[in-house]
Amino acid sequence: MNVLGIETSCDETSAAVVRDGRTVLSNVVFTQVARHRPYGGVVPEIASRCHVEEIAGIVRQAVQDAGLTWEQIDAVAATYGPGLASSLLVGLSAAKALALRLGKPLLGVNHVEAHLYSLFLGSDAPSPDSIAPLIVLMVSGGHTGLVRVAKVGSYKLLGQTLDDAAGEALDKGANLLKLGYPGGPAIEKAAAGGDPAHVKFPRGLRRGASGELAGDLDRDLCFSFSGLKTSLLYYLKDHPEVLVNGALKDVAASYQEAVFDALLARLRRAVERYRVSAVGCVGGVARNGRLREKLERMSGEYGLRLVLARPEFCTDNAAMIAALAGAPGGVVRTATDDLDVQPDLVLGVP
Ligand code: KG4
Ligand code: ZN
Repeated sequence: MNVLGIETSCDETSAAVVRDGRTVLSNVVFTQVARHRPYGGVVPEIASRCHVEEIAGIVRQAVQDAGLTWEQIDAVAATYGPGLASSLLVGLSAAKALALRLGKPLLGVNHVEAHLYSLFLGSDAPSPDSIAPLIVLMVSGGHTGLVRVAKVGSYKLLGQTLDDAAGEALDKGANLLKLGYPGGPAIEKAAAGGDPAHVKFPRGLRRGASGELAGDLDRDLCFSFSGLKTSLLYYLKDHPEVLVNGALKDVAASYQEAVFDALLARLRRAVERYRVSAVGCVGGVARNGRLREKLERMSGEYGLRLVLARPEFCTDNAAMIAALAGAPGGVVRTATDDLDVQPDLVLGVP
């Protein structure tokens, strides 16, 4: 089954064709970063307008790159949440129109679930059956959490951030360090060769803090990054010279290290509490070389198999949307004219 997938939940306009939930025939990603950079973050109005301008060309390109005709597309899938309402609307509307025109089913996909499924994309990726159950660290610009995946379609959220997402913490930190946008890749570059122990930033969530925000989740498996950001702000007030001389790379490396240590500490607790044989990491921040290195080391210590999404499938892309829609067991909303965007959609917890 050839699924044409569309992703417009934030600031990437993307379309892809994936066969049988595994084989990526095409994956076209237009990143709007340059359009948002002057504002230091994603501006929803600009994002949705940009999706409108780009979507038709991107979809056409994806079908062309896949070497298929329109008749060979068996279903059209789109992200319907979570994300920016006005951006989601563009992709979902385009998918509805295409499905109607082609006379093919329309499938709605959860963006977070698609990130989890990105682990299984690519010719060298494991099949879900071969490694489940596993614990996945989901780290993007909008979401940060730990999820136990029993099989495709069966998830248990173990913990999540109580304030900023990991990517957001890096973006805000980069902004304070005047490194530009997006912050994750900028900090990674600035931190190269820096000393990660130069400044001892807090590793998130003090005992007793924000307990009530964790709700039913295990507080020890939840994250908090707002204190870290504040401590960087105060550090820079006390050391303004950092922004003009060579210590910048040490401070960038220390800040990045604090974010990753906070992630790894919760991941360690999770693997100690839940019986799994593998861990995974997905989302934009999973592109980071230092984080990948630390995950390698940690999984080695526990004798666990490590599965990392391929870098091109870490940041937002439509291949993961098309793949999940065509995967056996994938939780998708089918057909229906009443399928609408759900900006606050949560991960299906059976
Ligand atoms: O998954 P994603 O593309 O979008 C969301 O669903 O949020 O993630 C974007 C996030 C941004 O915060 C960006 O700074 C971060 O991923 N990111 C990185 C790297 N590349 C992207 N963070 C650290 N290191 C990177 N190399
Ligand atoms: Zn995403």
